Amino acid sequence: MAQRISIIDAKDHVGEEVKIGVWLTDKRSSGKIAFLQLRDGSAFFQGVVRKNDVSEEVFETAKGLRQETSFWVTGVINEDTRSHFGYEIQVSDIEVVGESEDFPITPKEHGIEFLLDHRHLWLRSRRPYAIMHVRNEIIRATYEFFNNEGFIKMDSPILTGSAPEGTTELFQTDYFDHDAYLSQSGQLYAEAGAMAYGKVFTFGPTFRAEKSKTRRHLTEFWMIEPEMAFTNQDESLKVQERYIAYLVQNVIDHCEYDLKLLDRDVDQLRKYTQLPYPRISYDEAIEMLQKGGFDSKWGDDFGAPEETYISDQFEQPVFIMNYPKTIKPFYMKPHPDRDDVYLCADLLAPEGYGEIIGGSERETDYDALKEAVLAKGLDLSEYEWYLDLRKYGSVPHSGFGLGLERAITWICKLDHLREAIPFPRMINRIKP
Ligand code: 4AD
Ligand code: MG
Repeated sequence: MAQRISIIDAKDHVGEEVKIGVWLTDKRSSGKIAFLQLRDGSAFFQGVVRKNDVSEEVFETAKGLRQETSFWVTGVINEDTRSHFGYEIQVSDIEVVGESEDFPITPKEHGIEFLLDHRHLWLRSRRPYAIMHVRNEIIRATYEFFNNEGFIKMDSPILTGSAPEGTTELFQTDYFDHDAYLSQSGQLYAEAGAMAYGKVFTFGPTFRAEKSKTRRHLTEFWMIEPEMAFTNQDESLKVQERYIAYLVQNVIDHCEYDLKLLDRDVDQLRKYTQLPYPRISYDEAIEMLQKGGFDSKWGDDFGAPEETYISDQFEQPVFIMNYPKTIKPFYMKPHPDRDDVYLCADLLAPEGYGEIIGGSERETDYDALKEAVLAKGLDLSEYEWYLDLRKYGSVPHSGFGLGLERAITWICKLDHLREAIPFPRMINRIKP
C-alpha cells in the first residue's frame, strides 16, 4: 500500500508511490492530460493525470474536480524543476472525500474587502499560507531565542485594571461590579516577573482602541515583551538587536519556499542580520527631519511619514533613543543628565515599515514612580501592586515590546498589517 505523506516531504519520496490528502486549488485539462494544482496545508504542488496511465473513471473524475474539492490522491513523486516547489505527483488514483460548492475565491484577482470578508477561506491561498508560515517561524524562533538566553515565558493577564500605555485607547468591559480593560501591554506584569525570575518574556494578544485607520495599526495585535532585572537600557538594546537579527536569520533559514512565494528579496533581508544596528538620538532625528524639509519641532511625536523618512536614511533597522517625556508613558526612567528625556528607544524597521519595537529602562524609585502615576492622572489604587515592586529590593531593569504583526509585515514586505494575522481586527472589522 502507498505510504501516506505530506506534500512538504515529497523530496524524500522521489520515485515512490505515495498517498496524500489534498484539496484542488486549480485545474487545466485537455483530451489526454489533466494538470491538478494541489494543496494539503503543508505545501502546494502539481498532480499530473495522463489518460493513458489511469482508468477511464479516474481520468473522468480528475477532469470533473471542482476547486476546493478534497480527495485522496495516489501516485509517484517526480522532480519538477519548473516549479517553485520542485516536485510533482504522477497520479494513479483519486478518491473524492468532500465535494465543494462554487468556491468564492477563484484564481482571478479579488478586491481586498472581498478577501477580508472571506478570510476564513482566503487563508487557504498561497500568499496567506506563506505569511502564516513566516508568522509561525517568528514565534518558534522567539521561544528558542529567549529560552537560549535564559528567559522564561510568563503569561500576563488579558483582563486588567491598569492602562500602562495611556488611557485614550482602552477597550473597557464590565467585570462584575467593576470596570476592566483588555490588556494594552503585559509589561507591568512582566516587571513583577523579572523581579521574581530575573529574565522573563510575555507573549500574548494586546488591545488598543485605535481610532485611526492606518496600515500599521490593528485593534488586536500580539506582542512579545521581554523584561530583564539588573539590566540597563544599553544592555537591553543589545538584546533587542540580537533578537531581531535572530528572527530574520531563522526566517531566511526555514522559510525559503515562503519567501519565494512572497517574492521577498532574501539578499535584502540578509543585511538585517548584520550587527550592530545604528543608533541616533531623538534630537538627531528631529534635526534630520528638519534638514529633510519636514516642519517637525522638538517635542513632536513621529507619524508614519517621519518614521519612513528617518528609516530611509539607513540600510538597517535604526534605534531612536531618548524621546521627550511628554510623548512617552509614565514608567520610564529619566535620563541621568537631562530632565526632559527618558532612557528609552524605539526601533524603526527599514523599507518604510516604521516602529517595530518600543522599550525603555524603568523607573526604580518608589516616590518618583508614584508621582509619575499621579501626574498622568491614573488611579493610584490600580498601581499599588506595581509600586510594591520598588519597595522590596528594587533593581535597575529594562524591557521592550515587539509588535508581532509589525515584524511579520516588514519581514514579508507586506503592504498592510491586516495580512499578518489570521483574523484581523480593525476599526471597521470584527468579522469573520
Ligand atoms: O510602543 P508600545 O506601545 O510599547 C509598549 O506597549 C511597551 N509596554 C512595551 C514594553 O516596553 N514592554 O508598543 C510596542 C510595539 C510597537 O513598537 C509596535 O510594534 C506594536 O507594539 N504596536 C502595534 N502593533 C499593531 N497595532 C497597533 N495598534 C500597535 N500598537 C503598538
Ligand atoms: Mg511605541
